[in-house]
Amino acid sequence: MSLRYLSAGESHGQALMGIIDGLPAGIPISESALAAQMQRRKMGHGRGRRQQIETDAVQILAGVRHGETLGSPVGLLLPNRDWKNWQEIMSPTPIDAETKRRVHIPRPGHADLVGAVKYGYRDLRNALERASARETAMRVALGCFARQFLAALDMHVASRVVRIGAQQDLSALNLPVAELNERVDASPVRALDKEAEARMMAEIDRAQAEGDSLGGVFEVYAEGLPIGLGAYSQWDRRLDARLGEVLLGLNAIKGVELGLGFRAAEVPGSQAHDEMLPGGQPLDVRYASNHSGGINAGVSTGQPLVLRVAKKPIATLMRPLDSVDIRSGEAAKAHIERSDTCAVPAAAVIAESLVCLVLADFVLEKFGGDSLAEIQERLDLWRQRTQPGQAD
Ligand SMILES: Cc1cc2nc3c(=O)[nH]c(=O)nc-3n(C[C@H](O)[C@H](O)[C@H](O)COP(=O)(O)O)c2cc1C
Repeated sequence: MSLRYLSAGESHGQALMGIIDGLPAGIPISESALAAQMQRRKMGHGRGRRQQIETDAVQILAGVRHGETLGSPVGLLLPNRDWKNWQEIMSPTPIDAETKRRVHIPRPGHADLVGAVKYGYRDLRNALERASARETAMRVALGCFARQFLAALDMHVASRVVRIGAQQDLSALNLPVAELNERVDASPVRALDKEAEARMMAEIDRAQAEGDSLGGVFEVYAEGLPIGLGAYSQWDRRLDARLGEVLLGLNAIKGVELGLGFRAAEVPGSQAHDEMLPGGQPLDVRYASNHSGGINAGVSTGQPLVLRVAKKPIATLMRPLDSVDIRSGEAAKAHIERSDTCAVPAAAVIAESLVCLVLADFVLEKFGGDSLAEIQERLDLWRQRTQPGQAD
């Protein structure tokens, strides 16, 4: 692995911290682009009040000078504005008010009970604070550095929501990936189709009114990838394997499909595989379709990457589910914590960021180099050689 990153921080702690190590020198870093990505993560119909409290202003503490990466580790800090209301409750030193806002009744589907049993907590807050998706704000910030690296190499990542609960957007992707986000960022549910958008929003309103929550499905695309990222030589060097790992590592994600995905198990081979067409030169082979989703045998084909990701409904219900009070062992209704009703659009933005981190890592592995210029040069040569009719 060429690129490493880590985060620390509790949901209501003082701040989130992040480090990303392994980026080359010379990547132009736009702080306004970073701010824009942080805003994209806050979006979406059905989000809770926390999104209004936080400004998500990321501070760059290390690794960037005068608008460019230095090749040294990038250090980020994201202070939580809500900290002022939680200083006592989340204090690292013992305090009298230690019992304030303790949680004793686990929410089905959340980290509360497994965390408490695993770590021996008696206050479930110890589990929920780190399991909360607040941490994903830092992953978006870290991913934005990978995104800016990829953009400098003409690779673009975008997403859209295709299902919220029972409501689907069946419209085809009818515009380039590089233009998609601008379009769907304007939609409160990241839908391309306006009629589907209205149905999805109504579904969220209905769930909210009933004290319920919703999940959904989104697609993540990447365009501009060269042939040859990833390898089949070992299982853990496959691009598809790493994408699956990282996406399943996002809170509440329960399924990941590549290209045809589960449909590929239903159709015969003649409908599952992408026929090849001559592009005019011996190595310039084109595809008649993209059922593979841009990866064959763990290696990128040069076609757009197409991932479909399923997110389960939010675990905190305002009309709580049956649970057990861990103090008494008696039946009780689950704890209620301030919460989203639906966070599928935000999850799509976070997933984009994670895909950027994976792709940046594989680009670094294949093309190496300590500076962006060095990588650009190698990538240009590679594109000319492997996609002669398609390279600029
Ligand atoms: C963007 C995003 C926002 C989320 N917001 C909430 C929330 O407000 N309340 C909640 O209970 N779960 C929320 N979740 C889900 C939990 O973080 C997650 O379900 C929990 O960690 C349980 O573990 P799981 O990942 O196995 O589902 C959110 C997830 C994502 C991706």
